[in-house]
Amino acid sequence: MTAPDFAAHEPADAAAPEPVAAAHDAAGVADSLPAGAPDAAGPPHDRLHESLRIGSLDLDRRAFMAPMAGISTPAFRRSVRRFGAGLVYTEMISAYGVHYDNRRTLDYLACGEEQHPVGFQLFGADADVLADAAARCARAGADLVDINMACPVRKVLKTGAGHVDVHAAGIVRAVAEAAGPDVAVTVKMRSGLREGDEAGRRTAPLLVAAGAAAVCIHPRTAAQLYRGRADHAVTRALAQELDVPVIASGDVDGRAAALALLEGGAAAVMLARHALGRPWLFAEVLDGVPEPDLADRLAEVRRFAADALRDMGPRGVGHLRQFWQRFRRNGALDRPLAQALMRAPDAAAVRGLLGL
Ligand SMILES: Cc1cc2nc3c(=O)[nH]c(=O)nc-3n(C[C@H](O)[C@H](O)[C@H](O)COP(=O)(O)O)c2cc1C
Repeated sequence: MTAPDFAAHEPADAAAPEPVAAAHDAAGVADSLPAGAPDAAGPPHDRLHESLRIGSLDLDRRAFMAPMAGISTPAFRRSVRRFGAGLVYTEMISAYGVHYDNRRTLDYLACGEEQHPVGFQLFGADADVLADAAARCARAGADLVDINMACPVRKVLKTGAGHVDVHAAGIVRAVAEAAGPDVAVTVKMRSGLREGDEAGRRTAPLLVAAGAAAVCIHPRTAAQLYRGRADHAVTRALAQELDVPVIASGDVDGRAAALALLEGGAAAVMLARHALGRPWLFAEVLDGVPEPDLADRLAEVRRFAADALRDMGPRGVGHLRQFWQRFRRNGALDRPLAQALMRAPDAAAVRGLLGL
């Protein structure tokens, strides 16, 4: 079973915001801050570089790259790590595919040294199957196993996976036991299935009691998909209620938004759509480093493309097609080159256009 296509739910304009929109978004998160939050324009702040322990895993910074189906390939993970991502995740992996030795699924477990620390994200609805898959992720080198209970895709939800329900604590208990003491087990959740149900907040303490070493909250409801703003009041409430780190996902588009979330009690932040076609956002978030110049942005595009084509062969062409317009919107490619890359039929054509 392969991961479902989330991109279908992604608002086209949210994937790679124009600078003006990004500035508004940062203000949005900062606006929902408690008084006394840091000023983005103020001096560089160390919070993002404070060490963080999640179960047995020690991390040296607090900006992570979110798991993204169809996106978080090894080449993508290496790209964001070059700009400082403190933790990266695999694409979500079907626990059934691992359990039943599906060859394509097992490919998701491949992970080189340069991608650590890395979280392997699993989805599934059966505790036994998830536990077996988690043990195999641990043997494959996972530093952390995350259980995806944050999935809005109907195809996943109707299998019983992808959300928090009465079985969730049992799943976490089985997975934590199978993963063993050296691999942190975490849960990624949404605020609930629909507005007002608060399933995330109600269930999170049970998951922690069952062994979750951290909880990642994407505070949109499943019904919202990726629309509207993330409601980080939920993140702040969870951070107060839980005695494990709470990782905030949703609308992190710059340093101001990241610092605001940490100030509000989150232990770490996850970047997602805003870092697509813009891996250098990590350097801006972590250290206030301005965007690289055009030549450096193009150099990163070439490196990422060469990497993806080498790892993925012909499949890399389709993978890369998701990025060309995002790179264009983020000033790394001009329009004619992005359009030519969109039309490139094979790896040789992509290589030719980028001079690889
Ligand atoms: C294309 C795409 C794929 C995603 N895939 C996953 C996934 O496999 N697992 C998961 O937990 N979340 C997934 N997400 C959700 C993100 O991890 C993140 O929580 C969400 O996009 C909110 O962050 P943002 O507002 O900064 O984009 C995906 C989101 C997008 C847009």
